[in-house]
Amino acid sequence: MKGVILAGGMGERLFPITRSASKQLLPVYDKPMIFYPLCALMRAGAREVLVIVRPGELERFRTLLDDGSQWGMDIRYATQDAANGIAEAPLIAAPFLDDEPFVLALGDNIFCGDGFDTSLAEAGDAPSKAAILVKQVADAGHYGVVEFDGKGRVVGIIEKPTSPPSDYAVTGMYFYDASAVEIARGLSPSGRGELEITDINNAYLEAGDLSVVVLPDDVSWLDMGTPDGLLEAAQLVSAEQDRIGERIGVPEHIALRNGWIDEAQLEKVAAAYGDNDYGRYLQTLIQGQ
Ligand code: DAU
Repeated sequence: MKGVILAGGMGERLFPITRSASKQLLPVYDKPMIFYPLCALMRAGAREVLVIVRPGELERFRTLLDDGSQWGMDIRYATQDAANGIAEAPLIAAPFLDDEPFVLALGDNIFCGDGFDTSLAEAGDAPSKAAILVKQVADAGHYGVVEFDGKGRVVGIIEKPTSPPSDYAVTGMYFYDASAVEIARGLSPSGRGELEITDINNAYLEAGDLSVVVLPDDVSWLDMGTPDGLLEAAQLVSAEQDRIGERIGVPEHIALRNGWIDEAQLEKVAAAYGDNDYGRYLQTLIQGQ
């Protein structure tokens, strides 16, 4: 399974913080933001990942994530020239995807909770060509919102409606087959001048090819694209780590769990961090196995 992380955009809702730094590199409690969606992709089984960034930022991301081999992965990079919309991601990723199915993750979304792996498996195993993860929220109008008919069937998705037809928001993790590229090619920019991911989801839905997986109550989801979201996410990570007694969003841990690296490789990565908090934490994973 291939993965794509969309980590471009101007991050305007976080200005002035994001004038000089990509949002997805900002700290969220004890890790850079992008570690969380990267770990979500790894949990979904994506071992080959393309990271799409805004112009001028590539080297900073590469310094952080490298070529992925330290985690037994293959991480590549591409640039999005302008913030033309989330649905441009399949077009930019097309050469990397090479007609294979993939999972697209937004670089500012965080998921956590015990049930998340089950939801990922449900979406990944869905018999349809595409699957989305949705979550019941209090403020659905800030997101893509699912519309249901009287029988509970999904009939449409509306991007940031002023009167949300339900309180189910579309989260930033999308499971697509290769036809997403063709669908994206046929899109025109919306009123806000962007290629909308909601239009891709509606195209699959209209063709009867979209599965909708509802995230259970024990799975938390946040969009970290605003000051409040950023703060809430930091608090969520801190509280969740205290609750479960281990850290979340640690690529080394998932790589080890997935069998992509062995303890000897983890030891190497931990040694490269040295005697600091993160390095010492990685050491505990070795002893804890
Ligand atoms: O977070 C989930 C929501 O994400 C969905 O419910 C919406 O349907 C979807 O449109 C999107 O809404 P946002 O308004 O939150 O998207 P935002 O512009 O914040 O972009 C999300 C991520 O994608 C962020 O990390 C920046 C990146 N991005 C965005 C655009 C528009 C790019 O890399 N390039 C872009 O052109």
